[in-house]
Amino acid sequence: MATPFESEVTVTVDGVAHTLTLDHRTTLLDALRDRLGVMAAKKGCDHGQCGSCTVLEDGRRVTTCLSLAVAHDGATLTTADGLADGDELHPVQQAFVDLDAFQCGYCTPGQVCSTVAMLDEAREGRPSHVTDDLTAEIALDDAEIRERLSGNLCRCGAYPNIIAAVHRVLGDTGSGGAR
Ligand code: FES
Ligand code: FES
Repeated sequence: MATPFESEVTVTVDGVAHTLTLDHRTTLLDALRDRLGVMAAKKGCDHGQCGSCTVLEDGRRVTTCLSLAVAHDGATLTTADGLADGDELHPVQQAFVDLDAFQCGYCTPGQVCSTVAMLDEAREGRPSHVTDDLTAEIALDDAEIRERLSGNLCRCGAYPNIIAAVHRVLGDTGSGGAR
């Protein structure tokens, strides 16, 4: 039974529903990793600075180390593990693999989730800080991609190949940067 400092929280993660009794101070990241064993959300900084803990909630990016789990009661979450369709990788995952867009891989699940969401954001016409013309269709050039993924840091410095992977998904060649 929950104490006055706890609540029952139900979240669906990668298609599986879970109900937990959680202390109100529990972050969504700790609930995922420590209570549910969902390791796709990585704990890097635990301070909202690196983006490695990013997952998707209804297609939007959530920095789970900054979010209290109780605020996500009833949420449907997708981690990088839940993006694939069976054995078939999501196109963003496949592009990261094909273009070697990682080294140690620790930031990669967050980078992949963030990329999936930012491609949708651009398709929906949501401008970024570097979008010049707010009336034109958004063209994801290198500057736009860098800005839109700027919340995801990579200590290994795989940025050129990450940008190349995004261009691969977009079906263009971009400025390259990958081997
Ligand atoms: S662990 Fe959440 S932003 Fe770094
Ligand atoms: S691949 Fe190592 S931190 Fe990004």
